[in-house]
Amino acid sequence: MHFIKKSNIIRIVEYYGFLRSMKKEKRGYFITFEGADGCGKTTQTELIKKYLDNKNIENILTREPGGSELGVHLRKILLHYEKPVSNIAETFLYLADRAQHIEYKIKPALEEGKIVLCDRHTDSTLAYQGYGRNQDIETIQGLNKIAVNSILPDLTIVFDVESETAQKRLTGEKDRLEAEGIEFHKKLRAGYLDIAKKNPKRVKIVNANQGIEQVFNDTIKIIGELLNL
Ligand code: TMP
Repeated sequence: MHFIKKSNIIRIVEYYGFLRSMKKEKRGYFITFEGADGCGKTTQTELIKKYLDNKNIENILTREPGGSELGVHLRKILLHYEKPVSNIAETFLYLADRAQHIEYKIKPALEEGKIVLCDRHTDSTLAYQGYGRNQDIETIQGLNKIAVNSILPDLTIVFDVESETAQKRLTGEKDRLEAEGIEFHKKLRAGYLDIAKKNPKRVKIVNANQGIEQVFNDTIKIIGELLNL
């Protein structure tokens, strides 16, 4: 009859702990991109995705609202519903989109060790529903916390653009939020700058009044520092 020695049991327990820590280490990086409408965020996120693809770095590019299957439906309502939407209803719809997105897309991708590039996330709700729609900032922070289930961005890039420049860039048909006008935009911009000031480690500002190439270079420099590129 074989007895497992006590020292072997300790070794097995230690090995199990080692495997668990390896799994933890495999978590990818979560990078969010923020800014008021017209900041050029969508162009930049696509360029960053291409850059990572070319380096064979596994990544996904996703967005809020609309990054999950349920979110696609919510996005249509959020951006194009034609009747009045209460501020609180709007906030909860964005949060529902986020909770679903985190659970079914962001969390699994991070667990697979991928870089998650996310076009808008929690700071959009703070900037738009908090600073923009004058809802209580601490309440929004609390609701965001519930929606994300402890998954927080490692890095957030805020593309900062002058409100006048942004308005000129917004040609074509405007959605519900874009149609709010320049005063609303100014509140968003101030909100984002305040968020960056309060979270200097996580949130980095890029001057998005510059040309596409310069904005891209500035952004990649910041991302490169996080990912050791
Ligand atoms: P976009 O995908 O073109 O950026 O459009 C999304 C719009 O939704 C944009 O105007 C910002 C707005 N928004 C909020 O108001 N709150 C949020 O939490 C998010 C994610 C987006």
